[in-house]
Amino acid sequence: MTRGLFPLGGPVAKEDLVGREDFIVSLVNRLSEGQNVMLAGPRRIGKTSLAHEVLRRLKDKGAYTATVDFFRFSGKRDFATGLIDACLENRTGISKTLSIIRDRAKALAGGAQFAIKLNDLEISFGFPEKRSDDELLDYALRLPGILADKDQKLMVVMFDEFQDATRVTDPEIFKRMRAHFQTQKGVAYLFLGSKEGMMQTLFNERKEAFYRFAVMLPIPGIDEEDWAPYIAQKFSSRNIQVDEDAVKEIVRLSGGHPQDTMFLCSEVHYTLLETGDNVLTHDYVRLGYSRAMLALAPIFDEILDDLSTRPQVRRVLHQLAAGENAYQEGIHPNKVKRAIDHLIDRAIIEKTARGTYVFVEPMFQQYILEQFQ
Ligand SMILES: Nc1ncnc2c1ncn2[C@@H]1O[C@H](COP(=O)(O)OP(=O)(O)OP(=O)(O)O)[C@@H](O)[C@H]1O
Ligand SMILES: [Mg+2]
Repeated sequence: MTRGLFPLGGPVAKEDLVGREDFIVSLVNRLSEGQNVMLAGPRRIGKTSLAHEVLRRLKDKGAYTATVDFFRFSGKRDFATGLIDACLENRTGISKTLSIIRDRAKALAGGAQFAIKLNDLEISFGFPEKRSDDELLDYALRLPGILADKDQKLMVVMFDEFQDATRVTDPEIFKRMRAHFQTQKGVAYLFLGSKEGMMQTLFNERKEAFYRFAVMLPIPGIDEEDWAPYIAQKFSSRNIQVDEDAVKEIVRLSGGHPQDTMFLCSEVHYTLLETGDNVLTHDYVRLGYSRAMLALAPIFDEILDDLSTRPQVRRVLHQLAAGENAYQEGIHPNKVKRAIDHLIDRAIIEKTARGTYVFVEPMFQQYILEQFQ
């Protein structure tokens, strides 16, 4: 499948991963030392891309790695199987080891070899079928520890969309995971989630099973200095001449937001393809920008509709977008505070270290300003 010059909509390949280098190095170091890490952040800011790169580097350093994404699973058994397969791949080099064991015809061909690779892990032919859902789940949760121990390896397990674990399994899953994980040596966990509020509750509240189980780190943005050479090189690879200032303007317009920057670049590229021109100028950037905004409008409208059901939110949103003070005479400050909290909760804005609010998606901020003009 060709995915266009600028990748969109899912984790990016190594060569398209822009910026965050110091953060990646820091994550690799922490996980290498066995520290558990939790990363929470809004949709489409590059959590999964970042985590994949971290795991690639850890693997290159000799660690075992496993990735499981709760978005993909429909139930307990499905999740258990996914985790077991992800772990076993480190030994077998095959992504769906369990289905090969299950399939006896294939087992005859390659089975003996597998049996040898896995016989110290309590797995043999007929293994998944013989176990109940709960037995399989318990085994899956033990397996990272077993593997790390048997092979004397560091095992790094990444859970994506971790907050969805209860939806996929049952309300007791976190307690059960914690019970296994806390006894394991040689295993480090990386937890990712796109629902920040839920992730914070899970890891910061005393009554929760994962209370202070992982260090929570903020995900840094991608700097203009990192975007600019990447964008220039991409266009050059298609023999498009780039004006340095035009590239900077792309990043300024997108605010450096990961997916929006890629999307804007992509729209600029399609505009160039349509005209057959091969010089990237400010005019093309502006044209691409209008097209990107037009494409994003339905998404932004939906967010606005959804937010507008709450009192004050739309007004506060507009004032923040315009850089004005949302607290006004005649409106009780608590009401404004509630509106701001709601916007933070919905990952529309975030509070900076200096106590000001910034939009998570600068193009959404711009859209609001254009709407209210
Ligand atoms: N480091 C990066 N460099 C370049 N582009 C990136 C980077 N991170 C993310 N992107 C862009 O954002 C898109 C989404 O990335 P990714 O799937 O990693 O984000 P996410 O936070 O995991 O999103 P979701 O919440 O939907 O799971 C990518 O397809 C790409 O266009
Ligand atoms: Mg993701």
